[in-house]
Amino acid sequence: MEGKIILLPGDGIGEEVTGVARAVLEAVGKRYGHQWTFEERFIGGIAIDKEGLPLSDATLEACRSADAVLMGAVGGPKWDGADQAIRPEQGLLKLRHALGLYANLRPVHVFPQMADASPLRAERVRGTDILFVRELTGGLYFGEPRYRDHVDGRQRAVDTLEYYDDEIQRIVRLACSLAKQRRGLVTSVDKANILETSRLWRETATAIAEEYPNLRLEHQLVDSMAMRLLQDAPGLDVVVTSNMFGDILSDEASVLAGSLGMLPSASLGEGTLGVYEPVHGSAPDIAGKGIANPIGAILSAAMLLRHSMGLEREARQVELAVEQCLAGGLRTADLHAANPISTEQFGEAVIERLTF
Ligand code: IPM
Ligand code: MG
Repeated sequence: MEGKIILLPGDGIGEEVTGVARAVLEAVGKRYGHQWTFEERFIGGIAIDKEGLPLSDATLEACRSADAVLMGAVGGPKWDGADQAIRPEQGLLKLRHALGLYANLRPVHVFPQMADASPLRAERVRGTDILFVRELTGGLYFGEPRYRDHVDGRQRAVDTLEYYDDEIQRIVRLACSLAKQRRGLVTSVDKANILETSRLWRETATAIAEEYPNLRLEHQLVDSMAMRLLQDAPGLDVVVTSNMFGDILSDEASVLAGSLGMLPSASLGEGTLGVYEPVHGSAPDIAGKGIANPIGAILSAAMLLRHSMGLEREARQVELAVEQCLAGGLRTADLHAANPISTEQFGEAVIERLTF
């Protein structure tokens, strides 16, 4: 098949890890006879520097007309000033919102060889295979009004948390349909003892789950979910939650996999267009050193093959190649290896296992 992929390396280690992910996609194309065209563009801090905006309209349009977008990371100290009106993160939020990518899939899979890399005891994490389904275009991230003002000589800041029932329905429906192909458990996370939006979330999730008689839906408050992730991660299957809770819990869960560098994500909407990015950030402290872990980016490329190109076999091949590298003891520096290899070397090892 043919496909057009926009590359948005962004800031920090984004360049290095998307470079490796691109090479993996090219190797897959060569091996299985697919033709990819890549077009590289700016997002985040580098886009502010080069184009005056964290995401230009031209880049947004290019993404809209592509089959998929492979992103690196955005942000860094250079653009972090408290008085900064234009921020790198706005580019990513605009991209998600403008493309209608309301669902963010973040699989947390603990590879058997990696259970020892987690700061938790291996027996607590072994067998963990969670799929986070995070609502991505609503909630606190986008609610209006949001502003600052002064009231009686005090400074005030206001954000708005709102959800519409149809926003909850579509994300819970997606979570349920994904759970059907897995172990059949959906854990819906909210703060229904306090928040009105969470009470609507809970009611709506309960109603949607009734459409799926073979699934089990459970509700969990977000604070106790934070605990449960450390105590009983292997007991979880699909976790569905709001934008903000999903942001926080997915970072917490990444620790189970040994390193934030391991985790991929896919942001999806109604069609097949998706944005694929590692969960990790731009890691400015190690940028340019060639030591970043490319696994999150490579596994994001696998998700791209699966969800935007419909190439399940190829996606599995990439995942298996990564697993074989780990089984063979190959590790980047973040995984506390005695003999760490570089970002590029890891990429080459994956490609070797794909093209044997
Ligand atoms: C994430 C990131 C983003 C978010 C930032 C960079 C806007 O933390 O994808 O989890 O908060 O959604
Ligand atoms: Mg985050």
